Amino acid sequence: MSGTGQQTKWQTPPGWRLVLLDWWAARRNALLGSRRFQLWAGRFPLTRPIARRQAGDLFDLCAGFVYSQVLFAVVQLRLCELVSDGPQQLSSLARHAALPEDRMARLLDAAVSLRLLERRGEARYGLGPLGAVLVQNQGIKAMVRHHALFYRDLNDPLSLLRGDVRQTGLTRYWPYADSMAAHDLDSAQVGAYSELMAVSQNLIAAEVLNAYSLARHRCLLDVGGGTGAFLSAVAGRWPHLRLMLFDLPAVIGQAGPHLPSGEPGQRLQVFGGDFFVDPLPPGADIVSLIRVLHDHNDDDALRLLRAICSSLPDGGTLLLAEPMAGHRESDRVANAYFGFYLMAMGKGRARSPVQIGSLLRRAGFSGHRLLANPMPLQTRIIVASK
Ligand SMILES: C[S@@+](CC[C@H](N)C(=O)[O-])C[C@H]1O[C@@H](n2cnc3c(N)ncnc32)[C@H](O)[C@@H]1O
Repeated sequence: MSGTGQQTKWQTPPGWRLVLLDWWAARRNALLGSRRFQLWAGRFPLTRPIARRQAGDLFDLCAGFVYSQVLFAVVQLRLCELVSDGPQQLSSLARHAALPEDRMARLLDAAVSLRLLERRGEARYGLGPLGAVLVQNQGIKAMVRHHALFYRDLNDPLSLLRGDVRQTGLTRYWPYADSMAAHDLDSAQVGAYSELMAVSQNLIAAEVLNAYSLARHRCLLDVGGGTGAFLSAVAGRWPHLRLMLFDLPAVIGQAGPHLPSGEPGQRLQVFGGDFFVDPLPPGADIVSLIRVLHDHNDDDALRLLRAICSSLPDGGTLLLAEPMAGHRESDRVANAYFGFYLMAMGKGRARSPVQIGSLLRRAGFSGHRLLANPMPLQTRIIVASK
């Protein structure tokens, strides 16, 4: 398996600050690691909440893989759906899942502890606060089901890190990441990921379209736009825009049901091709690149950005959205989740806005800015101009 790109560049502080930083970190770590300090901090009323939170955070790190499997079982058995109209008895939930009652109680109590469900009386369960969000969100549920593959790929993380694993579940799932002939992929090979992308697109599209107005643009080209779910959201919000979709031929072949309905031909054009080989269609004054750049190593990412820049007129715009590193709230998603996801997939990496900015400059864009958006955990958004 190929590497996942260059290392993150880190700004090293000047010498005296580094010495101070190391001294402070060594003192803090010595204190936090001392059993005597831990016992004291747990007893002293002012530090007790911090000590408990710290112990809880560490336990969650150890137990995270169990929580994920509880979530997986809840999604597979559709438990949140079953209680969404009102609480249910343990016996009826156990019957539905064909599980013995004691085993079902074990799963339900685990789901209660994770706030997916709530206990509403003796042997009676209802929807919990996280379950209430999950039950409405097809994208999260599809992601959780799909994690069965990723979970197996992570079974031996050290082999993955050493590059000893040639074929993973995720390289098979995302065949363009591993294939020299993306053009030749067929519908069976792209079907599963295209469906996952379509069903998980709505939250991303809302974030992007709330953060950036398309009022002044005429024609938008969505590059790597999958089966058109983002364009459908654009079409609903901005009826004046002409729309173009570009993705692999096999993906475009499946686009029909997701495309903005009613006005093919005049308003919407679709193009099948390989963006590393085929020219992008001209005519757009704005290109969108949603959850695409992080799939590629720096050299390919630069090639793609150059192709986009050449397809735009002077003053044209690139709207780029994907999970990014370099933010307190999104670092776990970008560096831990996507860091390992993309490594298992075989290439790509989540970048910080600074790293993306540097690629944009090298690709020929004259300026760029990071937009503020309410949920940086899911995606962050950069607008660049040619
Ligand atoms: C992670 S998906 C994102 C899809 C969509 N933008 C979204 O956010 O739902 C990446 C997309 O890039 C497309 N893609 C990957 N390599 C490509 C290539 N060489 N040429 C054209 N499209 C490509 C894939 O087919 C896929 O639809």
